[in-house]
Amino acid sequence: MKIFLDTANLESIKKFNDMGLLDGITTNPSLMSKEGGNPKDAMEEITKIIKGDVSLEVISTEYSGMMEEGKRLRQYGDNVVVKVPMTPDGLKACRSFSSEGIPVNVTLIFSANQALLAAKSGAKYVSPFIGRLDDIGQDGMKLIQDIKDIFKNYPELKTQILVASIRHPVHVVDAAKIGADVVTLPPAVLDKMMLHPLTKIGLENFLADWDKLKSGNPNIKI
Ligand code: E4P
Repeated sequence: MKIFLDTANLESIKKFNDMGLLDGITTNPSLMSKEGGNPKDAMEEITKIIKGDVSLEVISTEYSGMMEEGKRLRQYGDNVVVKVPMTPDGLKACRSFSSEGIPVNVTLIFSANQALLAAKSGAKYVSPFIGRLDDIGQDGMKLIQDIKDIFKNYPELKTQILVASIRHPVHVVDAAKIGADVVTLPPAVLDKMMLHPLTKIGLENFLADWDKLKSGNPNIKI
């Protein structure tokens, strides 16, 4: 399963990229707004740092505006995936971009039918938002299972399931068990995935034991 980071924060992107954990990045207008400044600078930097797919979202809601913006976004790099909303105009733009060989991520997917339509329009990725479904008392992970089952029935659909709106590490394990293609994670979730209390205690014990050995032989080195 690929791991994308769901942020426009350069510090986080560099931090996890240096660990070799990142296959790509997803952004959206809210994430850009959270960082402040000129989003163009962030887009330029992110596409320079990350070799994998970087989703940059259009702001226009009608077809021709989406096409113009998408083409401008692609100038940041060949790894830019144009992110369009799951609307009739978004699907039309998805169709046009994909027939020109430009990869598209269809975002704001909340049903299996929406995922199926986005796949038919040629999307490289569909982004079902599981946390926001959980927030309103629906089962977000069930949607991932449904989409996976449907796509499995039609191997000609090459669209990847990009699990979005992830809230905690259990979501990641469940998405991996289902066989989702990608998870996009807020930095805080990726931080939590690295931690286990027994790892911390184990390391403290190793170092304390080493100190005991060293107290008898101060010149000891590895
Ligand atoms: C996905 O591409 C979106 O940017 C994101 O996962 C939305 O998550 P949220 O529901 O936490 O805003």
